[in-house]
Amino acid sequence: MRIEGKVINLEVQGTIPAEINGAFVRVQPDPLYPPMLGNDIFFNGDGVVSSFQFSNGHVDLVQRYVETDRVKLQRNAKRSLFGLYRNPYTNDASVSQETVYSTANTNVVQFQNKLLALKEDNLPYAMDPVTLETLGVDDLDGQFTARTFTAHPKVDPETNNFLTYSYRAKGEQSKDIAFYEFNDKGEKVKEIWFEAPLIPFIHDFCFTDNYLIFPVIPTDHNQSNGEAGGAIFQWNYERDILFGVVKRDGDGSDARWFRLPNGFPGHVQNTFEKDGKIYCDLSLGDDNVFSWWPDKHGRAPSPDEVHAPLQRVEFDLSSHDDKATVTDVFTDLSVEFYKVDDRFLGKPYRYAYPIATDVSLWDFDQMGPPHPFFFNMLCKVDMENKSLTYWSPGPTDSLQEPVFILRSDDAPEGDGYILLVVNRLKTNSSDLVLLDTANLSNGPIATIKCPFRMRQGLHGNWINGLNQ
Ligand SMILES: [Fe+2]
Repeated sequence: MRIEGKVINLEVQGTIPAEINGAFVRVQPDPLYPPMLGNDIFFNGDGVVSSFQFSNGHVDLVQRYVETDRVKLQRNAKRSLFGLYRNPYTNDASVSQETVYSTANTNVVQFQNKLLALKEDNLPYAMDPVTLETLGVDDLDGQFTARTFTAHPKVDPETNNFLTYSYRAKGEQSKDIAFYEFNDKGEKVKEIWFEAPLIPFIHDFCFTDNYLIFPVIPTDHNQSNGEAGGAIFQWNYERDILFGVVKRDGDGSDARWFRLPNGFPGHVQNTFEKDGKIYCDLSLGDDNVFSWWPDKHGRAPSPDEVHAPLQRVEFDLSSHDDKATVTDVFTDLSVEFYKVDDRFLGKPYRYAYPIATDVSLWDFDQMGPPHPFFFNMLCKVDMENKSLTYWSPGPTDSLQEPVFILRSDDAPEGDGYILLVVNRLKTNSSDLVLLDTANLSNGPIATIKCPFRMRQGLHGNWINGLNQ
């Protein structure tokens, strides 16, 4: 799409409640130039941030590329200079080893008075929260010393502290993990370093009052394949899923590694402690969700073969063996990209808002073949009684990750609004839709027309009060 700019007062069908004031910021990969090697994966596109700014029932849209080193070099060269995903051995000879090769395309979060555009293989790029001007690579005033920064930091609702981590924290071939906690003034209050048993791939994490949990995806780091010009990331059917469990008030020497049989740990929906045990709710795929990175024999499933329902994993801290246990399955459907009420992060909770896939609702003749990022149900899951209500758009539409907007500071858990982008695949257009959680299955209370197509995005967040 390669569109940057500002559009004032988007067309709104329906009514946006006046109490919704803030910005929905989200990021999408959008390659600036055609792939240098002729083909590339979705995860390797240059990051474009969109900010839908809501004020008194009106919405303005600002959209800009993150001006990464990578984007600047490509703008000058007028072509792509970067090869395979996180594989510096395949870059153009003109790209220096010192170049920050982050695409900044995975998530955009608020830290103090900045937005941070994130890619887990490098440090963040900071942006102006209103204009989306890129301010540069940001190490949080020198306080963040690890080499990489997750795309999934979180805020602890007890303290408003900002929790973040780094894996491969001393470089792409390192086993190091570093956890950092910053107070609400942006000052570092904790730093914990420890090692994984192998070079880990840790896309998301979660926390409770006392513990940090790091799910490790069983994808190998294949250095020799990378140096030979192939993929560095390689699925391994012989590896278990590992979950690193670390005390928040420790020094990392207490790290334990729990195991589940081979499969794919998705994003973490939420985690909590109860009776000396930790429970972690996440989608668990029965095969390799990242099917574009096959195993060493070239084996990979077709995307529509992978089943990834929402499951609860128990870690018994009093047990001496390292086996984790699946204690509950909440959905038959494959789910992902869930949001919960942020006030309940790390605590017992009841409601979650995932998107899910039911292929029977689609008309593939009109919308093209299945794709790993196709979802067509916005769900409200009651985790207590395992019931699910949903809204589905049309038979040629798909959904992007939602955000949850709290109705008021004292609203009950999960009460408010859901905002998400709908891909209109038949017409190659997009809408932003707003639903009321009290009547989710009734569909949107407002549809905000996007003046151009939003590409499939990865993650985004609602930032209350940020609207001008
Ligand atoms: Fe993610």
